[in-house]
Amino acid sequence: MKRKQLVVGNWKMNGSLSDNAALLDGLSGADGLMALDVAVCVPYLYLAQARERLASGGVSWGAQNVSEYDSGAYTGEVSGKMLVDFQVSFGLVGHSERRSLYAEPNELVGIKARKLLEVEVTPIVCVGETLEQREAGQTFEIVSSQFEAVIEQIGIENLGRIVIAYEPVWAIGTGLTASPAQAQEVHGYIREQVALLDKAAAGSLRILYGGSVKPDSAEKLFQQADVDGGLIGGASLNLIDFLTICRLAT
Ligand code: PGA
Repeated sequence: MKRKQLVVGNWKMNGSLSDNAALLDGLSGADGLMALDVAVCVPYLYLAQARERLASGGVSWGAQNVSEYDSGAYTGEVSGKMLVDFQVSFGLVGHSERRSLYAEPNELVGIKARKLLEVEVTPIVCVGETLEQREAGQTFEIVSSQFEAVIEQIGIENLGRIVIAYEPVWAIGTGLTASPAQAQEVHGYIREQVALLDKAAAGSLRILYGGSVKPDSAEKLFQQADVDGGLIGGASLNLIDFLTICRLAT
């Protein structure tokens, strides 16, 4: 049997109080989402709004980042403990935009994952290769090194407490989606690697696919044996598209 699917919206730096209200209320009141887990990762500022509007429904909310520190003189940063004040369920770490635009190295991504686990928030660890790396045949190697840096920080014993999102960098926001076979190949590889460390964790681990998932590409991706849902950027800003994608995951 397939694992319970998880579809997570990554709003990135988009939204406004009024736009979000419609989107969040639409999600909160939507039917047909009982059989899967759904969450939206919103900008920090809107966590309070997400909590207020989603609290009574079945959709969870999360953050897009977290500080590697607990508190102190780190202007502009937000700690894991602060996220807990807003009852977040998930936090993204290692998104390729953080890695490339904010120069977050593998080790830092691992530390951030650990910080989230310390406060009982589930890290969604993003991994993925660039087009050059894929063309050079380095996909597995890159994904492994990103993943290993996280294990180094969180420990094998915590493998069962994370979610992984495979997001080929060349597919993010580009309209190019990995083919279902390409996605399955990497998802299967990740699960095999986890199984070498912890068989039970590998069986329950949810590995999401992300990168230009749209209503018309979602179904075939979600049918792959090791694809357990999606991390949805652009399409998560449109209520109908996002709900369509969610329903295709069941
Ligand atoms: P996209 O973004 O769906 O707009 O490609 C996915 C992501 O960056 O998580």
